[in-house]
Order: sequence, then structure tokens, then C-alpha cells
Amino acid sequence: MSRGKPVQDGVRVKLPEGVSWAELAALSAEEIKQRNLWPAGFLPLPHPHHEAGGMVFPKVLIEETKRQSARDLTRVDLDFDLPEHFLPEFPAPIYLTTRLDLGDVSQGKLVTLDNFDEIFRDILNPKQLEGLRLLVTPFPQQQFNASADRRSLKAHSGVACFDCHANGHTTAATHTVGDIRPNEHRHRIDTPSLRGVNIQRLFGSQRAMKTIEDFTEFEQRGAYFDGIPADATRKGSNILERGSQVHFMAEFQALLDFPPAPKLNLFGKLDPAKSGESEMRGQELFFGKGQCATCHTPPYYTDNLMHNLKVERFFKEVTINGRRASADGPIKTFPLRGIKDSPPYLHDDRLLTLDDTVEFFNLVLELKLNAQEKKDLVVFMRAL
Ligand code: HEC
Ligand code: HEC
Repeated sequence: MSRGKPVQDGVRVKLPEGVSWAELAALSAEEIKQRNLWPAGFLPLPHPHHEAGGMVFPKVLIEETKRQSARDLTRVDLDFDLPEHFLPEFPAPIYLTTRLDLGDVSQGKLVTLDNFDEIFRDILNPKQLEGLRLLVTPFPQQQFNASADRRSLKAHSGVACFDCHANGHTTAATHTVGDIRPNEHRHRIDTPSLRGVNIQRLFGSQRAMKTIEDFTEFEQRGAYFDGIPADATRKGSNILERGSQVHFMAEFQALLDFPPAPKLNLFGKLDPAKSGESEMRGQELFFGKGQCATCHTPPYYTDNLMHNLKVERFFKEVTINGRRASADGPIKTFPLRGIKDSPPYLHDDRLLTLDDTVEFFNLVLELKLNAQEKKDLVVFMRAL
């Protein structure tokens, strides 16, 4: 990844007994469904405790936050479920569109209320700095607050935006989406990186809100309290003021750039002089046989739209650990710029590696790629 954490490779999703990936790809969606051959790892991933739901943080983030501030983001009822080596780099580097000459400005630290001023006061204007202060300030939330039905051991000041979007990126902290009922149909949601929100036009994997300001306001009013206004009132919702707070927070978020991709030219395509043969073949497949570029349009590899991939064509509805595997509906085309830095993949983190995403799309788009073509596509995506 950008600061050197190893990128995990290989297909990690297990095949059902008795079939190979190539044999599976030769079958129709209906045959895969009727014979129950859809790999279990391609089904929607349940929340670590689907019935309980709510915000859950990985251990590295909990430990570093405790070390800096004594604020404990441990839940008494459950732990985060994915192993550390599959998560994004921590702490993640930070690239500012206004000061790309500086490279990573994080100084290798997790940016918190305790250190943001020292790290940023000379490179942000006072308005941006105030926006950042609000992004690192904890506010009450459904599981972390002062009420008796909270999920922290002690009464709690709450969570900060950058507990999840750590250093403006992501730690893969997870949550359940607020707008679907009943609970068994609610999607697990991965924290998306905030890098590159300035070039995006839709926010939230399913909500498609139209501005960063709207999403910022919605997080604390809606998402923080699982879409239950009465709980927001009872547990102490922090109502942000649109003109002086939401706007400042959005302004800082819009400074967060994608990580450097030195092989890409101004069109977002590979410079042949800097690229290997496999990368060049991967690019050709991405724009040709793979049809990936229909939705992942350069230079940032998103069309800024939602698409319904209709993955439910391939499986019969089944309930796993409290999550009913049903239709996902339309989901945002996440940008693939910097994608090697943001595992796990898809809106619910069901795929651990880029190799998994290629096997997934090979089946979903019925592409019939061969083994070499799949490798080349992965190599290309790592260069983005
Ligand atoms: C649970 C940890 C968590 C916290 C805390 C959190 N977010 Fe998020 N954020 C998410 C998740 C998960 C999503 C994806 C939502 C979805 O898919 O519908 C998201 C989405 C977003 C998006 C849209 C990104 C995109 O690419 O579509 C923005 C902007 C955002 N959050 C800003 C904020 C701000 C500002 C705060 C603080 C007020 C905040 N977030 C607090 C987890 C968190
Ligand atoms: C019809 C539009 C469409 C096409 C074609 C398409 N994608 Fe996607 N892609 C999406 C959508 C929508 C998502 C989000 C799905 C989800 O989260 O459930 C996505 C997600 C991804 C992700 C994970 C992004 C993340 O941040 O988690 C990767 C990687 C990816 N696509 C690679 C590919 C590759 C490689 C191809 C070609 C073989 C391809 N896509 C073709 C629409 C498309």
C-alpha cells in the first residue's frame, strides 16, 4: 500500500466442493442458483453481530485511541471480526490537494483532537482547521454515549468522524445501514475512504446523497442513531450548524486526495514507458473484454452513478448469522483510484482481496476470463 503495508493477494473466497472457477463460469446464473453453487463468500456479509448491529472498531484503532486519549472504543458485547492483515494501512497517509508537494502530511500519526492542531496549523487555513477539529471531536452515538443502554463499559463522550474515517481514509470500521427494515435485511456497511470525495457526486453506498455537506449532516442526525430520532434526542444528538460547521467540515474533506499513482497519465491511463507487460494487458482487458470501464470510467475509475448488479440471480435466499442474503439493490460505483489501499471490498467488505473481486465480476458479468487474464486485471488495478 502507499506507506508499505503488504497488499494481500490470491483468491480467498472458497469454492463449493467439486467445481473449479472455470467450471462455475461456464454455467448460467440459473444453473448456479439451482445447484447451490454460488460461493458462500460472495453472499452478503453479516455484521459481526447482526442482531445487535451498530458501530464496531478494529483493535488497532481502539488501542491507539486509548493510548492518546483514554477514550475506550471497545464494545462490551462484541469485537470486530476481520484479521488485521486484510485491513487498510494504519495510520494511513494523508495527501492534501492543496499541498501535494508535501506528500504524506500525517507524520505517521493517527490524527486526533490531541494532535491535529500541531500537525496541521501551518498548512491549513483557519476555516479548514476548524473543520478538521470538528471531524476529530467525539459526539454521542447509539452505542457510545451516556445512557444506560449504551454498549461501552463507562459513560462515553462518543465517536469522532475520524474514528472510522481515520486520517481521512478508512480502518474498515463497520456499521449497519440505517434505512432498511426489518433488521435481517439491513446491509453491513464498510467505512469508505474520504480520499477523492471532491471528484465524487454521490455519497453513501446506497443513499446517493448529492453533497458532502448533506452526508456530513446526515451522519450525526441519522446514521449515528440507526435512523431512530427518539434515540438521537434521548442520547444527545449533536446538531451541526449548516453554515459554520457542516460547511467547514465538508471543506476539509474535499482537500483529501487519492494516493499518488505515478504510472498514470493525465487521462488516467498507464504510461507505457513506466508500465510492465502484464499491467498493459490488464488495462486492455479492463477497457475491452472485461467491460469494467463501462462503469469504472477514467481518470478516477467511477461513473459517479449507482448500478444494480442483480447478484441475487445466482443464489437462493438464505439466512446466515442473522443476515438474510437477499437482493442488494443499486449500489454506488466506488472509484478504483488508489483501490489497493482500501481492502476489504464491496459495500459490505465481503471480498478480502482484489483477486476475489475479479472472480466475483467474472461471474456476475459472465465474462469467461482465463487465468492469465484474471491475473493481469489484478496487476492493472494495483497500479491505479
Ligand atoms: C461507523 C463509523 C463512522 C463514523 C463515526 C462516521 N462515518 Fe462516515 N461513513 C461510514 C460508513 C459505513 C459510510 C458508508 C455509508 C453507506 O454505505 O451508506 C460512510 C460514508 C460517509 C461519506 C460518504 C462517502 C462516500 O464515498 O460515499 C461521507 C462524506 C462521510 N461518511 C463523512 C462522515 C462525517 C463527516 C462523519 C462525522 C460526522 C462520519 N462520516 C462519521 C462510517 C462512519
Ligand atoms: C455495471 C457496472 C459495473 C461494471 C461493468 C463493473 N463494476 Fe466494479 N463495481 C460496480 C459497483 C456498483 C460496485 C459496488 C458494488 C458493491 O459494493 O456491492 C463495484 C465495485 C468494484 C470493486 C470494489 C470497490 C470498493 O471500493 O470496494 C472493484 C475492485 C471493482 N468493482 C472492480 C471491477 C472490475 C475489475 C470490473 C471488470 C471486470 C468491474 N468492476 C466491472 C459497478 C461495476
